[in-house]
Amino acid sequence: MTQVDEVAADLFRIATYIPDVDLQFVQFLVRDDEPLLFHTGMRALFPMVHEAVSRLVDPAGIRWIGFSHFEADECGALGEWQAAAPQATAICSLVAKMVSVDDVVARRPARPLADGETLTTGRYSFRFLQTPQVPHAWDAGMLFEETGRTLLCSDLFQQNGQTAARTTTEVVSRFRDMLRAYQEGPFAWYLPYASHTEATLQRLADLRPNILATMHGATYEGDGAQAIQDLAAVMREVLGRP
Ligand SMILES: [Fe+2]
Ligand SMILES: [Fe+2]
Repeated sequence: MTQVDEVAADLFRIATYIPDVDLQFVQFLVRDDEPLLFHTGMRALFPMVHEAVSRLVDPAGIRWIGFSHFEADECGALGEWQAAAPQATAICSLVAKMVSVDDVVARRPARPLADGETLTTGRYSFRFLQTPQVPHAWDAGMLFEETGRTLLCSDLFQQNGQTAARTTTEVVSRFRDMLRAYQEGPFAWYLPYASHTEATLQRLADLRPNILATMHGATYEGDGAQAIQDLAAVMREVLGRP
């Protein structure tokens, strides 16, 4: 069952819970002159996500498809989306474009965004941040919507299980529970903790986001800078020791 919630003005959270992995997979739709979809979900989710988007905008009018890094839940259904939406163009890091996206999933060349570059969709503008290995993968990046101060933060703040669409109470303890549980099984070392991790997270905290739009779990509304610093401390605690 795919659920749709408006978690901020013109920002819609489309969530499908998959019991096999006890995880929600979330896409975000920004309703604007040039509608933007952030994450496509896996190819198997395409019919559900397409139907959910059709409740909000004409799916054929999707203009931009953003995502953090090359993985099935981030951009697996890009080709399906580009078949359904003739103007839909992928936006991602140059690394993502060159290393995987254009060759594997895209029907049309992706538009690469440089670190700090801004894309305007009408009323909203998005700043691209290149964040290598945060949350993970060399090609990773994030979008920061500057009006609502929303950080589309991909796998950061992952919370397992079925969560509410949005929350104003802290989410970092659930992130810690997930990270500790993953360390005990096949998903160990989900997120790298590298020499530049804390500096990258501090750069995200310095954006002072009001909304943290995570791919897996509730969208958090509150002091985003504090939440990111708390998340960095959890990563150091769980992953930062030999
Ligand atoms: Fe990921
Ligand atoms: Fe993910």
